[in-house]
Amino acid sequence: MSLLGYWLVCSRNRPKADGKAVPAVNGDDGERQVHEFLTFRLALCKESSTAMALLQEPFVGIIMVPFFLVVPSERKVETSMPKRVPVRYEPMIVLDTTSSVPLYRQLYDRLRLAILTGQLATGARLPATRTLADQLGVSRNTVYLAYQQLLAEGYLNSKVGHGTSVARVTPETLLTLPSTSQGRQFAQDDTARSRVSQRGMNIARLSPMPRSQVPSAPGKAPAFRAGVPALDLFPYQIWAQLVTRRVRHSLKEASDNQDPAGYRPLREAIAAHIGVTRGVRCTADQVIVVSGAQAALDLAARILLDSGDMAWIEDPGYPGARGALGGAGAQLVPIPVKEDGLDVRAGRTRCPRARLAYVTPSHQFPLGVTMSLAQRLALLEWASQADAWILEDDYDSEYRFSGRPLEALQGLDRSNHVIYLGTFSKVLFPALRLGYLVVPPDLTDVFVAVRLFVDRHVPILEQMALADFITEGHFTRHIRRMHTVYAERRAALIAAVASELGEMLEVHAPEAGMHLVGWLPPHVDDAKVTQQAAKYGVEVIPVSVFRREPMPREGLVLGYAAVNEQEIREGVHRLALAIRSMPRPIRSAAEIHEPGS
Ligand SMILES: Cc1ncc(COP(=O)(O)O)c(C=O)c1O
Repeated sequence: MSLLGYWLVCSRNRPKADGKAVPAVNGDDGERQVHEFLTFRLALCKESSTAMALLQEPFVGIIMVPFFLVVPSERKVETSMPKRVPVRYEPMIVLDTTSSVPLYRQLYDRLRLAILTGQLATGARLPATRTLADQLGVSRNTVYLAYQQLLAEGYLNSKVGHGTSVARVTPETLLTLPSTSQGRQFAQDDTARSRVSQRGMNIARLSPMPRSQVPSAPGKAPAFRAGVPALDLFPYQIWAQLVTRRVRHSLKEASDNQDPAGYRPLREAIAAHIGVTRGVRCTADQVIVVSGAQAALDLAARILLDSGDMAWIEDPGYPGARGALGGAGAQLVPIPVKEDGLDVRAGRTRCPRARLAYVTPSHQFPLGVTMSLAQRLALLEWASQADAWILEDDYDSEYRFSGRPLEALQGLDRSNHVIYLGTFSKVLFPALRLGYLVVPPDLTDVFVAVRLFVDRHVPILEQMALADFITEGHFTRHIRRMHTVYAERRAALIAAVASELGEMLEVHAPEAGMHLVGWLPPHVDDAKVTQQAAKYGVEVIPVSVFRREPMPREGLVLGYAAVNEQEIREGVHRLALAIRSMPRPIRSAAEIHEPGS
């Protein structure tokens, strides 16, 4: 069992006031209940430290109070391995002996809530007062008073010889709450959400979309989903062979906790790759493997920023960076992006003393422009003078279609102010969840130390398979193949837009990446066009969702990597139909001057 799980079980078995331990259930059962506790509140965490990190933030109150599990008296405590039994969710009772609220009242509140949320179903039998009193470590009178109150209010029924059970119709059912899952949802939100910290809620609000809109299993990408590579062209067969070989020959020796900085051969392979292709100057010691660029942003923000520090962010820019930096308590300062990238002069004017600047210099997200050498040098000079950090996100720079690639900012940095991050999400596949940070040599210890409190390390099997994938040449081959495919798809998109949407979409095709932006005529509302496109089965993202300050024109982000040329042509045709079907995609004057999100 994980450390957290063990701790939770221990806290459940804490001694009663009279010194006797509250009866424990056996280990497997306890583990199951802890598992239910965690899955109920936290969804899936990779391991206990991740769960702890989540718990420590918005949920800190939940585990700091002593809690006990109500185990119905008729339940047998197994001593041998239990057979597979259907999972039953037992209500958890939290009684706080230090509270000024009487214990019977706390118990009454908890049982009433369990009834209203459906946790205690209609007709469910409650334990006898003596049994529950024993399990909770309170006097029988406490339980008796709580039951009496619930009986008097109509939540419970009691019949001689039949014990006490949950009533069929509760007062709330009659008065307000719908008896469906809607009621359940309301009651849970009402109690749990109200205890979330202000910080937790602020971070959640930075999310570009509510949980209900985040696809859990997105399926085949439609035209023009952005940020997704050609998933159908990944060499799964080779990957399967590499993973299987590692499971057979290496996993046993590597199944204990591993180096938090990452699997050494993978770090060496990454250092060699980015040294050659991106001009990044580093050794394997400076590479830290993380679960994607988002994790890299989060770790860097935790370590580099204090609450209240100013941070430059590109405007328009990547919402994931906003979330990570804002989550670390930074005050975000939007800096405009021009045709040659982040406007460093504007940054110096707006906030010369910022602590950090987040940039995507190789292929700005979402506009796709490349930061010029002049702007790069200006940014490095500012960082050195202001002693600020540059967070360089090189998320999809493997694909460059013309011209000589500009080397990474990190390679130009002479004063150790750049933290470089990359990801395998775009070049391989997003669900792999592997990325990396390159940090100055004297920062590796700090990053590794903090990382131990986040997730310790990413799964070893994928790291080993990826190291083999790179060193055995599959990686370079895949990139080369995709380079050709994406160049053709990009050309197909540009040509189709020119012939079908020439007057409505002006494409400034960047020389790199996996998406481009089509600019709409002035005053055309990109959000409305996006909604209409969806009705025609086309997925685009309005540029306006990425900006903080108004822009003279709005546009659509069009990804071209995930769909073939035929699908691209059909998609453009449907997009043209969608736009032409719109009565008036023009923004009103009031909307035009609305400040950004
Ligand atoms: C600019 C940018 N940075 C980082 C990421 C996150 O990548 P990852 O999937 O590795 O977390 C994305 C994903 O779309 C992105 O667009």
